[in-house]
Amino acid sequence: MGPMMRLGLLASGRGSNVHAILAAIREDRLRAEAVVLVCDRAGAGVIEVAQRAGVPVELIERSAFPSRGAQQTAIRDALTRYHADLVALAGFAAILDPVVVGAFEGRILNIHPALLPAFAGAMAPEPQAAALRDGVKESGCTVHIVTADVDAGPIVAQATVPVLPGDTVESLSARIHAAEHRLYPQVLQWFAEGRVSVDAGRAVLSP
Ligand code: GRF
Repeated sequence: MGPMMRLGLLASGRGSNVHAILAAIREDRLRAEAVVLVCDRAGAGVIEVAQRAGVPVELIERSAFPSRGAQQTAIRDALTRYHADLVALAGFAAILDPVVVGAFEGRILNIHPALLPAFAGAMAPEPQAAALRDGVKESGCTVHIVTADVDAGPIVAQATVPVLPGDTVESLSARIHAAEHRLYPQVLQWFAEGRVSVDAGRAVLSP
């Protein structure tokens, strides 16, 4: 077996996906080492989630830099410094610039709380609210490779959940979150196994 995949995490929120990923590592369902959490929000719940698991935290807030570009360069430099092989966005509130995406081309993943390409281009809880507004009967989550086009990179995997009568943004979000917590660690393990490739702009999973 080769060396363990070095996983960088980027998150801004409460960190339930980071929690699920770290649990999968602990339980050996995900053969990876979480080498760093980059967070752009002081006080975000995810910071404590990482610290409790012994994962180094790099706080890289926009306000600490003269420009958005300087912050993005700092994000790239942190991921490089920790030698991340793969980067997982888990509720990261900023869009990544080409300076980051280009440095880790094809090696950055994101999880989106809808079945892309539906409800692209907005952050939670907006996709869940839009699903209710439109009256769709199924929604879910998508793990995709990050490219310069927001929410439009190759789709690696999706999980569906029903939208039920009487659902609120909260109840639908909770159902989608539960699906995310199963899907994301699984997809990361596929990457650790080297099973995901991109062919003509589409992600392919080898058996
Ligand atoms: C999730 O809904 C994810 O799909 C979106 O941001 C949310 C993050 O939630 N990208 P959490 O911080 O992991 O609980």
